[in-house]
Amino acid sequence: MSAPRNPKTFHVKSFGCQMNVYDGERMGELMAAQGMTPIDDANAADLVVLNTCHIRERATEKVYSDIGRLRKHGNDPMIAVAGCVAQAEGADIVARAKVDVVVGPQAYHNLPGLVAQAAAGTAAVDTDMPATAKFGALPARRKVSPSAFLTVQEGCDKFCTYCVVPYTRGAEISRPFDAIVDEAKALVDAGAREIILLGQNVNAWDDAEGRGLHGLIRALDRVEGLHRIRYTTSHPNDMREGLIRAHAEVEKLMPFLHLPVQAGSDRVLKAMNRSHSRDSYLRILDRVRAARPDIALSGDFIVGFPGETDAEFEETLSLVDAVGYAQCFSFKYSPRPGTPAAEMVDGFVSAEAMDERLQRLQAHLNRDQEAFNRATIGQTCHVLVERRGKFAGQMLGKSPWLQSVYLETDAAIGDMIQVEIRAGYANSLTGVERVKIAA
Ligand code: 5AD
Ligand code: SF4
Repeated sequence: MSAPRNPKTFHVKSFGCQMNVYDGERMGELMAAQGMTPIDDANAADLVVLNTCHIRERATEKVYSDIGRLRKHGNDPMIAVAGCVAQAEGADIVARAKVDVVVGPQAYHNLPGLVAQAAAGTAAVDTDMPATAKFGALPARRKVSPSAFLTVQEGCDKFCTYCVVPYTRGAEISRPFDAIVDEAKALVDAGAREIILLGQNVNAWDDAEGRGLHGLIRALDRVEGLHRIRYTTSHPNDMREGLIRAHAEVEKLMPFLHLPVQAGSDRVLKAMNRSHSRDSYLRILDRVRAARPDIALSGDFIVGFPGETDAEFEETLSLVDAVGYAQCFSFKYSPRPGTPAAEMVDGFVSAEAMDERLQRLQAHLNRDQEAFNRATIGQTCHVLVERRGKFAGQMLGKSPWLQSVYLETDAAIGDMIQVEIRAGYANSLTGVERVKIAA
């Protein structure tokens, strides 16, 4: 532990998924409301919150190397470990790394009290999982970026055999409809022009009236001053007709769908407990494309799942070729303690084979991403300006299909402009401004 003292400055560092980014923002708002000052330099802060990710082994180990680095270069800070590693390892982190506070993803509204306890000299651990209690206990949203995250659903009941999420984030729960709509309005008042609805299984969002995610999206469509709606991450089995129809009918809903498939072989999908097949997944994409022909598709892949043969891996490549994704994430399988797949020892895939498969997969994905980007050349589309580019006068915004667009403009951050796309590269586009549309 650090020497006891009341922290006056803090720094939050979030790892992993967008839900952690959202939680990190909310923890920052909470501490600012207590009178603490946020600072950019972790090494100068009195309190450092490491908002951690447990999804793969490498993500977990990062926490411990970060703690070591802070001890060496930092200002003897109080260290709080939050997020999924906190939930999974709890008090063991205090024993292993002598941190001051451990707080799980469902308990971080208690952070001020835990920090006070640590400041008085006793390490504080809170990994309780009360359903959505935290949201009501957080301060109002004040200043946010033009593209803002809003967590609407947490947890997962799917139990894919490789995944720790059902254990660290608990069962699927949906936040109440009214609380979400109120927060969306507050985000727009605070400067948001786009809202990205977040959940581990966001398309499983529902309420007692059965409004479903599409009902929520249609309600947000009516929020004045909001120009764009996105949502992530979705599960194929929760991709209902109403949501697909919303892609055809709701103008503010952007033409982008992140729908992970993980693998292309039915045997591997079954071993992963994905509860969809290669074919049922492809059929969903057909329906989505029929509703919204220009939709940009995205996914997640795992290579080297226990028992995956060369031939089964080839089925992943052929699925990728059949879909033509706009962008994807791909990972080497990482065994997570406590998950069923960690016990599967037959057909263990060697490190070399994993490396080779990942490289081959990424070559296909990169090829398709660049082709998708090049296909937008010559089109005129709306771009939401999100931040400054590297050069004077240059700004960076996002196309409807979530591509980064660089251009010269005197438009301000938060403006929506019309842009003609002039060039497409592996990771971005460039364009020229046509008309300013809205602020
Ligand atoms: N090993 C590798 N990748 C994993 N993911 C989840 N668990 C593991 C694991 N044990 C990937 C999946 C998921 C994404 C968020 O992380 O592709 O969709
Ligand atoms: Fe993990 Fe599967 Fe749930 Fe996604 S759907 S969070 S991969 S268990």
